[in-house]
Amino acid sequence: MKILVTSALPYANGDIHLGHLAGAYLPADIYVRYQRLKGRDVIHICGTDEHGVPITVLADQQKKTPREIVDYYHESIKKSFIEFGISFDNFSRTTIPLHYRLAQDFFLKIYNKGYIYAKENEQFYCPKCQRFLPDRYVVGKCPRCGIDGAKGDQCEACGRWLEPFQLIEPRCLICNERPVKQKTKHWYFRLSQFQNQLVWWIEEKKHWRETVLSSVKGWLKEGLQDRPITRDMSWGVPVPLEEARGKVLYVWFDAPIGYISSTMEWAINKGEPDLWKEYWFNPETKLVHFIGKDNIVFHALIWPAMLMAYGDYILPSEIPANQFLNLEGEKLSTSRGYAIWLPEYLKEFPADSLRYALTRNLPETRDSDFTWRDFQAWHNNELADILGNYINRTLTFIEKYYNYNVPSASAFTESENRILDMLHKAPGIIGEKIENFEFKNALQEVMKLAQEGNRYFDKEAPWITRKTNPLIGERTMYICMKIVTSLAVLIEPFLPFTAQKLKKMINFTEQSWDHISTPIVPTTIGKPEILFKKIENQVIEVQIAKLKKKECTIDDFNKLELRTARVVSAKKVEGSDHLIVCEIEIGDKKKQIVAGIGKYYQPEELIGKTIIVVNNLKPVTLKGVLSEGMLLAAQDKEGLVLLTTDKPISPGATVK
Ligand code: MF3
Ligand code: ZN
Repeated sequence: MKILVTSALPYANGDIHLGHLAGAYLPADIYVRYQRLKGRDVIHICGTDEHGVPITVLADQQKKTPREIVDYYHESIKKSFIEFGISFDNFSRTTIPLHYRLAQDFFLKIYNKGYIYAKENEQFYCPKCQRFLPDRYVVGKCPRCGIDGAKGDQCEACGRWLEPFQLIEPRCLICNERPVKQKTKHWYFRLSQFQNQLVWWIEEKKHWRETVLSSVKGWLKEGLQDRPITRDMSWGVPVPLEEARGKVLYVWFDAPIGYISSTMEWAINKGEPDLWKEYWFNPETKLVHFIGKDNIVFHALIWPAMLMAYGDYILPSEIPANQFLNLEGEKLSTSRGYAIWLPEYLKEFPADSLRYALTRNLPETRDSDFTWRDFQAWHNNELADILGNYINRTLTFIEKYYNYNVPSASAFTESENRILDMLHKAPGIIGEKIENFEFKNALQEVMKLAQEGNRYFDKEAPWITRKTNPLIGERTMYICMKIVTSLAVLIEPFLPFTAQKLKKMINFTEQSWDHISTPIVPTTIGKPEILFKKIENQVIEVQIAKLKKKECTIDDFNKLELRTARVVSAKKVEGSDHLIVCEIEIGDKKKQIVAGIGKYYQPEELIGKTIIVVNNLKPVTLKGVLSEGMLLAAQDKEGLVLLTTDKPISPGATVK
């Protein structure tokens, strides 16, 4: 049997955060590492999802091209996955030529089979930008809660799903112009035709998670509708039809095909370009999609229907979708910047500590909550005090009293035989849980071994028997080493970096999950090192403060001393086009400030103006010129304007 594991292709419009990891990537990695240790034929396929409106919106906002955005995030995401130990066999991208060809071939094949048809529809068109506006390019007031700024697909404030035409006072996200309704042609996938096939197919999936089944059944009960799979945009895979010029495939049509193109790329890189077929065309392959719950309908209904329409390819076997991870009791929000980003985490802490905290708390059956306090407590009280401490006390004891040589023993007491039996069964018990996608429970079983080890060590008190009855002391340490040895393999799927360090420390190279049921202890060990250093309170408090920093209290605001000021003189800073140095009058004091407004104002325009400045800003030097404050200005896409006062007022007046 072959196992083809995929993790949802992350959008290349932002870094990976904890929600992504808990949703798909970490469980997938645990699963794959375990299968590799079992010696199974498994590959883990992923890549970045590089099309779609959020990417073009971000590019517009940052005045960059979509290409620049996806190039940057592809690299950044790839790097942080490596540092976090997510072991993909291939990490591709959906903008490679191979993917374009495959997605177009996919479209054409099902088009020729009659599963795609064209239909004219009205859509918003921005006369100023001269383009059709995808859902999220239209903003306006929400028809339900009335809040301004609702997007054409959803109101973030009240959560209601929307169609662009439902927005009150709609406007173009880019230029604020009022869009007009205009006819455009789109191509639709006949999803409705697959209703029955999907119902039968889902019937067989009785063992799937309840959360997945109930959402799938909900959709099926409502009845599946045909779905437009083209968009009026230039960023995307061009629709391979002459009459569809200027249109691209909808991102959710091309992205899952990325699972196949990434597998093809993997095969090419391996020098066996046909190898991918042995997975995708092989009915014996188990195709496992790891995803978060927001992706369920795409993976459990639309994508299987696409595969059914195409023929040839296998269908998904397992879709162990996870629920959401919240953060300190609140929903993660990437638009508000409320998240913990993987690259930032990795600058401060080891990967395994987070792998542990997330696995221990995976949202497998319901949403779960990540808090920094739990993270600290689990690291200190479990990783360090149970696992790390057990390993360390065993190894340092052998270092100190047996000169790095692991004692041996042959006859055991009943309780020792019970431990050996536990070690014997552990790989099977843990393995079964992993195969059932119960990663949280599997980790708990691993930790039980370390707990058992600590209890045994305490009870046997080798620091006494070593002197009173050396044979017993040796036997105790031999059993203790059996547990350490077994842990070195069993922790690997969860804590790969620690496993590697530990194996090195004990001169151990075993790579097989099955062999470890009768662990063969190494005869000598190397120098023991601490595996987990405790995390101090201050360190955690800094992290908590970072999350809160986006909220500003009235006290925070009151720290700013805002004043009116009159510009007395102004000139460009030498050697800079955009810095202007202004001499200003605040009450009866004079000071100078440097402002980066040279692109928008000429120095002489400023003289005599009453502006608003932050008066108590710490002085800095810009291009060698002292700046003793900062002026306020408002900026949007059109440019920048200075803030002044509504009516004349004396310079130095307080602003509040
Ligand atoms: N980019 C999507 C998301 O982050 C997931 C795409 S999964 C794929 O929600 F199947 F389409 F590749
Ligand atoms: Zn516009």
